[in-house]
Amino acid sequence: MTLILGIETSCDETAAAVVTDGRIVHSNVVASQVDIHRRYGGIFPEVASRQHVLSILPVIEKSLAEADIGWDDLAAVAVTYGPGLAGSLLVGVNVAKGLAWGRGLPLVSVNHIEAHIYGNWLVETPPPEFPSVCLVVSGGHTELILMTGHGQYQRLGGTLDDAAGEAFDKVGRLLGLPYPGGPAIQEAARAGTPTAFKLPRAWLPDTHNFSFSGIKTAVLRIVQKYRPLSEGQTMTKPRVVSSQAPPVVRVLPVANLAASFQEAVVDVLVEKTRRAAEEFEAKGILLAGGVAANERLRAEMLQRSPVPVRCPPPELCTDNAAIVASAGFFRFEAGERAGWDLDVVPGLRLPAEASP
Ligand code: KG4
Ligand code: ZN
Repeated sequence: MTLILGIETSCDETAAAVVTDGRIVHSNVVASQVDIHRRYGGIFPEVASRQHVLSILPVIEKSLAEADIGWDDLAAVAVTYGPGLAGSLLVGVNVAKGLAWGRGLPLVSVNHIEAHIYGNWLVETPPPEFPSVCLVVSGGHTELILMTGHGQYQRLGGTLDDAAGEAFDKVGRLLGLPYPGGPAIQEAARAGTPTAFKLPRAWLPDTHNFSFSGIKTAVLRIVQKYRPLSEGQTMTKPRVVSSQAPPVVRVLPVANLAASFQEAVVDVLVEKTRRAAEEFEAKGILLAGGVAANERLRAEMLQRSPVPVRCPPPELCTDNAAIVASAGFFRFEAGERAGWDLDVVPGLRLPAEASP
């Protein structure tokens, strides 16, 4: 039985978790900064790293207490070293180094994108089979990956502009919804009609790439038509579009726009992932990352996929440290150890990256 302490601070969640053998979660503590960043409408990097400094030790202590274990029970400490925000990553990496050094434990460095994929090892048995096509969709990434073994990846494609989650967040802001936009759009979409607006889908044929800037601009153009006349009016308040009688009052159709946007993004994500699974004769599809918490994406993927689909529960899709401990376990088992000179790599790509 190999217990790993995972530490995650790549973005705006301070997280620590204890996981056995990369599969059994004993504790998974996440201190979210969402409420702090909401007032800025997005993540404020300097505030994020300062908040990590305040939260990291209590979060680690809580994860050990909830798992009911001591430092001597641990086999290693695994920590995210990239990709992510430099100042945020630095907090986790330095704390992990200090604790591992002080407790005489090995240190394992973990790629955040890989960690998201390993959320699929924390649910259900038996574990996923290889090869699997992985769709990693988060605030910072949209990656289509062929996973052929533990730590073995071929990057099939990714976004050429905005990440899927970034598009949700930006469109959420355009619609006057609270940050983060993803869950807010999902909620607003419940009352809307997905076919109300015909929004563009960037298919980028013959590639496994994605693009979300066109759909974002299309939503912006629609929203502009409903722009309030005077300051102080919000987008959802009625607007008089003609001063000539009779006055016409228009209200931004938030629910219909949210539903149409969500539908268009999900349509492209599902179709391109499904086709890649067919092309590479994958045994399964693995969803990962914060946007994989989207219930429409999960439902559509399950319905349209030719192969079994796995998707971690929402709390293992968004940033957490159990996924870091899981990915760290498989690297630890393979004999990998990080040196004490481990540094953060904010622009880190997939490990063992290769194009097919
Ligand atoms: O993986 P994650 O927690 O952090 C990053 O590594 O970026 O992903 C956060 C992203 C945000 O853009 C958020 O809006 C999106 O995931 N997200 C969702 C949902 N829940 C979170 N997007 C769509 N639907 C959701 N239910
Ligand atoms: Zn993430």
